[in-house]
Amino acid sequence: MAHVTSIQYEPVAEIGGGAYGTVYKARDTESGKFVALKSVRVPTDQNGLPVSTVREVALLRRLEQFDHPNVVRLMDVCATQRSNQETKVTLVFEHVDQDLKTYLERTPAPGLSPDCIKDLMRQLLCGLAFLHSNRVMHRDLKPENILVTSQGQVKLADFGLARIYSCHMALTPVVVTLWYRPPEVLLQSTYATPVDIWSTGCIFAEMFRRKPLFCGESEVDQLGKIFEVIGLPPEEEWPTDVTLSRKNFSPLMPRPITDFVAEINEQGAELLLKMLTFDPLKRISALNALEHSYFQDEETLTQTKS
Ligand SMILES: Nc1ncnc2c1ncn2[C@@H]1O[C@H](COP(=O)(O)OP(=O)(O)O)[C@@H](O)[C@H]1O
Ligand SMILES: [Mg+2]
Repeated sequence: MAHVTSIQYEPVAEIGGGAYGTVYKARDTESGKFVALKSVRVPTDQNGLPVSTVREVALLRRLEQFDHPNVVRLMDVCATQRSNQETKVTLVFEHVDQDLKTYLERTPAPGLSPDCIKDLMRQLLCGLAFLHSNRVMHRDLKPENILVTSQGQVKLADFGLARIYSCHMALTPVVVTLWYRPPEVLLQSTYATPVDIWSTGCIFAEMFRRKPLFCGESEVDQLGKIFEVIGLPPEEEWPTDVTLSRKNFSPLMPRPITDFVAEINEQGAELLLKMLTFDPLKRISALNALEHSYFQDEETLTQTKS
C-alpha cells in the first residue's frame, strides 16, 4: 500500500457521508483527473492491519484486474498510520458523475424511456453476474450504490460490505438497506447471491415508478409491504431456520405487478416477478436474467416465434 494520499490527492468537495465515513471528491495531482476517496479507520496493533481489512482490500484488487466495465475502477489503496492504535486506509476510485438516485431524480417527467431502463438493467446485471461468478455478493445494492456516468454507463460501487461468498461463513445480520432487502434477510435466514437479485428487482421497478417499490418502516412492516404485492408465500416455502412465524401475516393473494409498475411491458413484468421471487433458490440468477426475452431485441423475438 502506498503512503502518499494527501500529497497526491487534493480534496475538492465532500460527496457522501455514509456508514463508514466521508467520501471526498479529489483531484489526482499527477494525472489531473478527479477521483473519489473513501477512507476507513481501522484499529492496528504490532501485527499491523486486521486480517479482515487486508482480505477485503485484496479482494477488491483481485476484482479490479478484470477491468469490468460495470464495476467502479479502484485506482489506488493508501494506508496512513494515525497512531499506534489506528491506521487510515484510503480507497481511491475513479470519480463518476452521479449515482443512480441522483440520475433518477434529475430525469425530467415522464421519466426514463423503456429503452433506457432496459440498457441500465442490462449493465447492472452484467456487473452483478461478474461479481457473482467471482463468488462475491454485493449485499447492499440500492440506487445510491450504483454509479452512472454522464455517458450512461453503469458502475457498481460501495463494496464496503462485500465478502467472498462462502456457505459456512458467519454473516453480519444487518447488511442491506431495508427497502431493498430480500425476505430471507428480513427474516434473518441464511442468504447468498440471490439477495442482490431481489434488490435489483426493487430497483427495476423503481426506474419505472420513479419512487421505491417497498417502503417499509421496520423488518416486519417491510415483509408486510412485500406480501401485499407478491402474496403470502405458501407454508412449504417459509424458511425453517427463522423465529418469525408465517402466521403473523395476513393470507394475501399476489396482485398483478402492473398495478404497481404500470409502464412495464409483458416481458419486463415477467422478468421482474422472477427477481421478486420469495424463495431465493427459485429466484432467477443474474446470468439467466440476461438471457431473458426482455433483453432480446424485437427482431430476434419475432424470428424465434416464427
Ligand atoms: N467513485 C465515485 N464517484 C462519485 N461518487 C461516488 C463514488 N463513490 C461513492 N460516491 C458517492 O458517495 C456516496 C457514498 O459512497 P459509498 O461508497 O456508497 O459509501 P457508504 O459506505 O458511505 O455508503 C455514494 O452514494 C455516491 O453518491
Ligand atoms: Mg453506499
